[in-house]
Amino acid sequence: MNYRSIEVTPLTPHIGAEISGVDLTRPLSAGQVADLKQALADHLAIFFRDQHLDFESHKILANHFGGIHIAPSTAPWRVPGHPEITTIHADKDSTFVAGEDWHSDMSCDPEPPLGSILYLHTVPEPGGDTVFSSMYAAYDGLSGRMKTYLEGLSGTHDAVVGFGGITPDGMKLPRSSHPVIRTHPVTGRKALYVNKGFTVRIEGIPKDESAGLLAFLFQHVGRPEYQCRFHWRPHSIAFWDNRSCQHSAIWDYFPHTRSGYRVQILGDKPY
Ligand code: SIN
Repeated sequence: MNYRSIEVTPLTPHIGAEISGVDLTRPLSAGQVADLKQALADHLAIFFRDQHLDFESHKILANHFGGIHIAPSTAPWRVPGHPEITTIHADKDSTFVAGEDWHSDMSCDPEPPLGSILYLHTVPEPGGDTVFSSMYAAYDGLSGRMKTYLEGLSGTHDAVVGFGGITPDGMKLPRSSHPVIRTHPVTGRKALYVNKGFTVRIEGIPKDESAGLLAFLFQHVGRPEYQCRFHWRPHSIAFWDNRSCQHSAIWDYFPHTRSGYRVQILGDKPY
């Protein structure tokens, strides 16, 4: 793919690219936004170095790609005065970290976020990488028989898996039904859309069959050949497309500190 305003260095054949030649703290031109959208469509997760984002520039950046998704379940971690921004932080006192299991962000919401932009200013060295897995590759890697079986099925996605027990008692947690195989609205490609972080059930089949099938699909998503691994440095950004990939944050750095902010971009109902 040709890009006019940015340099794009793929990390693997299926997923991930490092982007250079753009300053995300400054207003972007229409050409730069178009190139970044293309890079996201082509590589599913794109990475940037040495970007000193403040809250305003983080929001302006996200708004180039759509409005900002404010997920009800992330309320306890919102930055005061900036409800669009969620703190992502772990240190010596942490008992859990956000996003440790494979997941697609907030797939429990009726209209899950299109993508997420995570900026980390403080990172452990070494450790704290994020892994990303292509759900196009996961879909393509299924047998024809399995693809036919899954086509037309829906999964139940429930926030209680990821947020139960860490959100205030009585907080209403969203639950939604989405197709197991979704079509990406930009690329038209098919992607597997069940994830360990939120999917609790495949609907319309016996409970045991659903459990066995989900166990297989969750393991399938984690195959190394579908993945890339991003090693953070201070002031790096990862921008991923929740419609075509899953990710998992590796917590191998306790008791060290890893810290930053995430903004999510409005998406639409999966089909
Ligand atoms: C997340 O799941 O959004 C957090 C990812 C990370 O901390 O690397």
